[in-house]
Amino acid sequence: SPSLPVYTQEEVAKHCSLAEGVWVTYKGGVYDITEFVALHPGGEKILLAAGGALEPFWALYAVHNQGHVLEILSEYKVGEL
Ligand code: HEM
Repeated sequence: SPSLPVYTQEEVAKHCSLAEGVWVTYKGGVYDITEFVALHPGGEKILLAAGGALEPFWALYAVHNQGHVLEILSEYKVGEL
């Protein structure tokens, strides 16, 4: 697969609102989920993770521990940490 840009945690943290774009990280990947926020079955709770890691939230909401959720996430990948 083509190589994606590498971002720092600091750069990801700047993307923490719908206005600036909503980026999250998961297992070393960086995802721009701005367009997914309005589609999220769990509503605006998703914004709690904006600019940071999904792992702590997905540990609390085990509904995400399914293949189809990771497939959705993969569509939004923009880089690596
Ligand atoms: C449900 C995706 C982030 C909270 C779901 C579902 C999907 C999804 C596909 C439905 C799963 C199913 O029922 O089979 C995502 C993606 C995320 C994300 C792709 C990140 C990019 C978050 C975060 C939180 C959260 C950060 C909480 C802080 C919830 C809750 C539900 C849910 C509470 C259950 C909604 C319900 O069934 O009433 N999410 N989610 N999600 N999500 Fe997320």
